[in-house]
Amino acid sequence: MPTKDLAIVILAAGKGTRLKSSLAKVLHRAGGRSLVEQVLRACAPLGAKKTVVVVGHQAELVMALVEPTGASTVLQYPQHGTGHAMQVARRALGGAKLVVVLPGDAPLVRTETLRALLAAHRGGNAAATILTAVVSDPSGYGRVVRKSETQVGAIVEESKLSEEQREINEINSSIYCFTLDKLWPALAQVKPNNKHREVYLTDAIAILAAKGETVLAQVAADPREVLGCNTRVDLAEVDRIFREWKRNALMRAGVTIQLPDTVLIDPDVIAGEDTVVESAVHLLGKTKIGARCTIRTGSVLTDAILGDDVVVEPHCVIANSRLDERVTVGPFARLRRETHLKARAHIGNFVELKKTTVGEGTKAGHLTYLGDAKIGAKTNIGAGTITCNYDGFHKHPTTIGNRVFIGSDSALVAPVRLGDGAYVAAGSTITDNVPAEALGIARGRQANKAGWAAKKRRELAAAHSKNSSEKSKPRRSKNTRRR
Ligand code: UD1
Ligand code: MG
Repeated sequence: MPTKDLAIVILAAGKGTRLKSSLAKVLHRAGGRSLVEQVLRACAPLGAKKTVVVVGHQAELVMALVEPTGASTVLQYPQHGTGHAMQVARRALGGAKLVVVLPGDAPLVRTETLRALLAAHRGGNAAATILTAVVSDPSGYGRVVRKSETQVGAIVEESKLSEEQREINEINSSIYCFTLDKLWPALAQVKPNNKHREVYLTDAIAILAAKGETVLAQVAADPREVLGCNTRVDLAEVDRIFREWKRNALMRAGVTIQLPDTVLIDPDVIAGEDTVVESAVHLLGKTKIGARCTIRTGSVLTDAILGDDVVVEPHCVIANSRLDERVTVGPFARLRRETHLKARAHIGNFVELKKTTVGEGTKAGHLTYLGDAKIGAKTNIGAGTITCNYDGFHKHPTTIGNRVFIGSDSALVAPVRLGDGAYVAAGSTITDNVPAEALGIARGRQANKAGWAAKKRRELAAAHSKNSSEKSKPRRSKNTRRR
């Protein structure tokens, strides 16, 4: 379908008073993106010649999100209503003949639904086509007053509903298609006849209908698509629906998700077939998970890249890290930025890694901190090993070769290098490089004193019994002294 005659206008200037927030409404997030980004994404495939976002409240912040998408912005200040917002957008629409108008606060709308709206508008040769929905609770929305089976006579806002009109359960989504040379004269006749003294776009509908123009309603197949986010309760519901759609898409693609309602997945996340995601897991940002992985309960992955057959045990926090195939992590491990675990590496409980590369098959099983470290293959990092990478001013690197064995409770004071095949004795504080195949040992030598313990116990017991016999001698009480 040719789109050179089509423009899109997104109304995003409002404050969102009902959200009770210092942040403009369209900057609030649902489904892992700001509302305005969600709406822009739904419109983008329509291929309109011009996409214009009307901005007002926190215009600069909104513009910063909008402009990288190639859409343009116009400033509406002050905000005198949805009809006024359209008038402000007029000069930016170029030579478009048709416009699809969307509110910035109804982010669930799908491209397919917008395509159907456009097709109905073109097919019906209409002046306006309204996307409507039939809902069980229409409160808060403008109601669609039908003139006939197919045509609309008016949209009536909630505050102006008559007793009879309260029964109407077909609502205005605020998503419309207009033929522009019909819209502008109708909009010019709209009066700010409401308590906010605003020019309502909805009032243009009755004017068009009264002129005998064709005004159609296209009923959305899924009424959830037109939900508007006016309150935090609406936002939570819209977010819940986005998350459900995302989980369902992954499940259809072969991912098992246990107790899906407890699992939060951002829109750009992907996962391979036969991966299992247990309950209460968060998969965030641009996380990519291979096939046959297991992400166990309570783990949070942000911008993590996992190869195939990776196991993340419960309660791990992984950010900005890469885990190659067959890596195992956790429980209770923390992988911070720029960490790379090569194939079959194992990171166990209470281990924290930052900016660290761990070679193939290398293990750090327990209670360890590795920061700014490069570790070779098949190395064993003993429990309680710490890289002392920070001197209070700078971070320093630690380099550990292949097949190194680091005994438990060792401190590696960076910068320091441990050559291939080296050993570090348990409890060492290593400040100098350890050459390949050498033993680094840096701790006080042990001395055993024969019989020391028995002698000590005898001394302690004697002191104890002397003390107790002094305490048990009779003493005069305070009362006795007074008499
Ligand atoms: C609007 C419709 C209502 C519909 C509902 C669907 C009007 C008068 N009412 O009501 O019929 O059922 O949406 O969600 O249009 N905006 C501007 N400039 C302004 C005012 C608003 O850009 O001067 C933007 C807002 O930022 C928002 C959108 O327009 O994104 C809709 O405004 P909102 O205040 O949410 O209208 P509703 O009361 O929801
Ligand atoms: Mg709204």
